[in-house]
Amino acid sequence: MASTGILLASLLLLSCLAETSHGVLFSSLKQTLIVTASPKEGQVYKAGVDKLTVSWGLNQSFPAGSDSTYKTIKLKFCYAPVSQVDRGWRKTVDSLSKDKTCQFKVVARPYSSSNQSFEWTIERDVPSATYFLRAYAYDAADVEVAYGQTTNAHKATNLFVVQGITGRHASLDIASICFSAFSVLSLAGFFIAEKRKAKSSHDK
Ligand SMILES: *[C@@H]1O[C@H](CO)[C@@H](O)[C@H](O)[C@H]1NC(C)=O
Ligand SMILES: *[C@@H]1O[C@H](CO)[C@@H](O)[C@H](O)[C@H]1NC(C)=O
Repeated sequence: MASTGILLASLLLLSCLAETSHGVLFSSLKQTLIVTASPKEGQVYKAGVDKLTVSWGLNQSFPAGSDSTYKTIKLKFCYAPVSQVDRGWRKTVDSLSKDKTCQFKVVARPYSSSNQSFEWTIERDVPSATYFLRAYAYDAADVEVAYGQTTNAHKATNLFVVQGITGRHASLDIASICFSAFSVLSLAGFFIAEKRKAKSSHDK
């Protein structure tokens, strides 16, 4: 009985340790990367159709060698605060293992200190919302060490407005519902008109 207790306690301890070792805090990362992908003012990007050209590189105001531990870059598409309101499943958490801000992978590349770019077609599963792009730099142990993003610290500028596929289907569906309602009504109208005609000729 006592040994089961000890076993449970150590399992719990182990899982806590595992948790902390993966719990890199976003607030501990240095913003050394510059990520650009100028959204066009007022453009609504269609998921599955429209493309973004993203480029990223080391901010040259950091001393050379600041990026010596960077091994990989992963670019992600992230929910802007305006699309996180009342949606716990998109919540921003400082511990990156629990953070739900950046749910869409754009691309992963070996790190290079020179400016790189990538053309991304917004994937079909990206829902209607407002987004920004963020790049994380990972070290050899695949742990986040730095980042950069297309928006400012408040995540309020240079945002991408995406219209998801389901949104488009919904409007198509509404159009077809209206259309069928219209045809049912006109058919009914036709029958009523025909009946009246038949009735009036019968009365004569
Ligand atoms: C990378 O190149 C693009 C296009 O030339 C430019 O807009 C962007 O500012 C550059 N980024 C960096 C970090 O130098
Ligand atoms: C580059 O880094 C410097 C120093 O941290 C910062 O002041 C500057 O705004 C950064 N540049 C960009 C384009 O983010």
